[in-house]
Amino acid sequence: MSIADDPDRAPARSHLYAMGMSEEEMRRPVVGIASTWTGTMPCNLTHRELAAEVAAGVRAAGGLPMEFNTIAVSDNLTMHTPGMRASLISREVIADSIELMGRAHQFDALVAIVGCDKTVPAAIMALARLDVPSVVLYSGSMMPGRWRGRDVTIQDMWEALGEREVGRMDQADLDDLARHACPGAGTCAAQYTANTMGTVAEFLGLAPFGIGDIPAVAGEKNAAARRVGEIAMRALAADARPSRVLTEDALHNAIVSVAAMGGSTNAVLHLLAIAREAGLPLEIDRIGEVCREVPIITGLKPSGGDATALDLWKAGGTSLVVRRLLEAGLLRESVTLVDGRSLADVAAQAQETPGQKVVGSADEPFKRRGALAILRGSLAPDGCVLKLGGKDDFRHEGPAKVFDSEADCYVAIQEGRIVAGDVIVVRYEGPAGGPGMREMLSITGPLVGRGLGTSVALVTDGRFSGVSHGLVIGHVAPEAYHGGPIALVRDGDTVVIDSAAGTLDLLVPEAELAERRAAWVRPEREVERGVLTKYVATVGSASDGAVTA
Ligand code: FES
Repeated sequence: MSIADDPDRAPARSHLYAMGMSEEEMRRPVVGIASTWTGTMPCNLTHRELAAEVAAGVRAAGGLPMEFNTIAVSDNLTMHTPGMRASLISREVIADSIELMGRAHQFDALVAIVGCDKTVPAAIMALARLDVPSVVLYSGSMMPGRWRGRDVTIQDMWEALGEREVGRMDQADLDDLARHACPGAGTCAAQYTANTMGTVAEFLGLAPFGIGDIPAVAGEKNAAARRVGEIAMRALAADARPSRVLTEDALHNAIVSVAAMGGSTNAVLHLLAIAREAGLPLEIDRIGEVCREVPIITGLKPSGGDATALDLWKAGGTSLVVRRLLEAGLLRESVTLVDGRSLADVAAQAQETPGQKVVGSADEPFKRRGALAILRGSLAPDGCVLKLGGKDDFRHEGPAKVFDSEADCYVAIQEGRIVAGDVIVVRYEGPAGGPGMREMLSITGPLVGRGLGTSVALVTDGRFSGVSHGLVIGHVAPEAYHGGPIALVRDGDTVVIDSAAGTLDLLVPEAELAERRAAWVRPEREVERGVLTKYVATVGSASDGAVTA
């Protein structure tokens, strides 16, 4: 019974009258519109306008829109500060807040407007929990910047830090680059974490293909947002609930998209978390298996080539990627897309720009190997993620240089104490240890900038920005905070990475390791308060998605 017709809900009606609603409107299905707008970053800056457009679409299709907001944390703005610890934690808070609003207001359907990294998986996790017909609207990428005759993104900014440190760039040029790298609203402008997850939302079936890849500031975006409002009403009529959309086949396709587009290591964490929320079986090794089979078929930064998200959109967008993957037999077609189309429909409607050089094919890929590999071994018994970035398989053996925090490692890099051949180990930065599993772009960017990106390996129980590249291995589990083997490594120990064998090993005799384990004491750290305390008490392993439920 609607609020308008329920005699006992007269008090509720009084509040809806107060908001200017008529009784006719109160009889309409209610569509919640979750916006992850914050005014603290460019990534989600357009969400209020988009929410208004979605609301107009819902209203035009006979629904009653109700907008609400969540928090969001920018990775780029918090990187290299203590604030970075809040980043991954925000995924849980955003998911919980959307879920709570859905439970409280009993929306008939939901639209989630997402952009910056964690907002995408967070929304999907909440929608899976609520299980009402739902659509995800990815707000879109930033335009690339233009600096001295070339396209630049935030990746160039972080690598320029390293170039400054070795004298290849001066501060004036660094500041000038900063003024040009990010020309307006939108998410980081290539296949970094936000765009990786925006694509995942499409391949999972929750976000309509052809809308997410429209840049944030393109004129078409507002009209597309109105269409999303209408799609939500159609999804409601068709009862397209996440439990019908988020299937094992859809999850497989999402993993394929990450591999084929050279996606971010963070996708591993988020896919595992989404699978758990949706009640789908997914082990971390499965992601590695798919990545081994699927080549990188887009020439996007940072793994496939130098193209930006704008280039992908101009070339034909993710719909064209669907066509190529279907041609190669790499997608499972028995999936439900929230807008009612099939993958074959999406592929048929893709508009390829003649002569485009951004989307290749499985026969003519940009890189033969996928973006990521999952390793296990004596240093990571529960698994870890190698950002292969399309490189050929490699073996790296070197002496460990161990740091108990990202900040200590950053100082060592600046002081030139890291040399070719080293294996940097950064620990106590895992989900519980950080807490919050901070990203290490302030290490990987300068390593690349110093020319050490392919000669120094970095192994950590923390994680990486989608911008990061080099020989980087993250999400090592069990983490140091829980006494995992990474806690036992000492300076000079030999670490061996073998991507072909899928192993990460610490070459220390077991008897010696047993002695170290017996003597191990978790380091003291500042007492946390508030949300950090709650997070440490509830967060699970990175190899299970670092979820708190
Ligand atoms: Fe928000 Fe990159 S920091 S999308």
